Amino acid sequence: MKITDCIHSVGVNDYDIDLFEGQFKVEKGMAYNSYLIVDEKIAVMDTVDKKFGDVWLKNLKDIIGDKAPDYLIIHHMEPDHSANIHRFMEEYPDATVVASAKSFGMMKQFFGTDYPDRQLVVSEGETLNLGSHTLTFVMAPMVHWPEVMMSYESSTKTLFSADAFGKFGTGDAEEAWACEARRYYFGIVGKFGAQVQAVLKKASALSIERICPLHGPVLSENLSYYLDLYHTWSSYLPESKGVAICYTSVYGNTEEAVRLLEQALKEEGCEKVAVSNLARCDMAEAVEDAFRYDRLVLATTTYNGGVFPFMQEFLHHLTERNFKNRTVGIIENGSWAPMAEKVIKASLEKSPNLKFTEAGVHIKSALNEENRKEILALAKELCQ
Ligand code: FEO
Repeated sequence: MKITDCIHSVGVNDYDIDLFEGQFKVEKGMAYNSYLIVDEKIAVMDTVDKKFGDVWLKNLKDIIGDKAPDYLIIHHMEPDHSANIHRFMEEYPDATVVASAKSFGMMKQFFGTDYPDRQLVVSEGETLNLGSHTLTFVMAPMVHWPEVMMSYESSTKTLFSADAFGKFGTGDAEEAWACEARRYYFGIVGKFGAQVQAVLKKASALSIERICPLHGPVLSENLSYYLDLYHTWSSYLPESKGVAICYTSVYGNTEEAVRLLEQALKEEGCEKVAVSNLARCDMAEAVEDAFRYDRLVLATTTYNGGVFPFMQEFLHHLTERNFKNRTVGIIENGSWAPMAEKVIKASLEKSPNLKFTEAGVHIKSALNEENRKEILALAKELCQ
């Protein structure tokens, strides 16, 4: 696919994958993007997943024919992009591989060699001239591995952004960008907000007309929409007004409280209520909702002196991604020695700028009249 007269997309779509990175459900598959710049020198940007080496090389040859690329530029060493480096280097023995110093360290780990006679190590601000196109390298550590770099091509104002601005789904998946880009962001890069902020600051100094990520579509219109969302997400600010309710329930009593709260929130005029049963939902969707909305309710039973396992896992996902800046309400259930509220608060005690509601719901086994009043009070406080 042609992106400009000289820049082409030569990546592939994976329609068969079920779990990306071994954990994220991808019902609409995944795209592994790779780009080609044809100028006086020919540069290939990144490779693709191991399964697609043949297709990728064919995509490349369909455009350059018998010509040989001069450079293979590696922005990220995670195998969904790097798996075919060795294959490429064998196919094109005169090509030079261009990457950050840390990438070459990883190349040796993955392939047993860092191609010492065919390598060009680049660092922040260095340039590579291809003819009428010039690439400037921008280091982007921890977005999403330490060796990551982006490159900016100045004649076309194109940013090759590595994993940033990517999404789940094949390139031809018919869906809006934000939903699966948000789930991707919080699932994969959410822990590294400070590092994303650092690279956004560098990007703000560039005139960008097009973003070419390693997953998802090329972005070329209304770029401030995407950049603004990345700014919101990486600064851990809520994107939308609404309440995410994430719960577990063993025999349906905690779930009944959740449904009553959902109803009460709607009656209070709450902008949006997103309910997730953590035992059955896609946990990454629930994580996405917790970061998307400004209020979160956690509802769970006491279990083995702690909280129910799916809630424990969810709390881990939140805290390891630096959850903060939200209002949190708690519904706890326990038939004897209820501990859930205490355990949730202890789990979140190092999460900055969380405001716990004064109203709480304390169920002992099944809902009673007092609990119904507590639920109404919680809904009221959340919608003040
Ligand atoms: Fe798409 Fe971090 O690899």
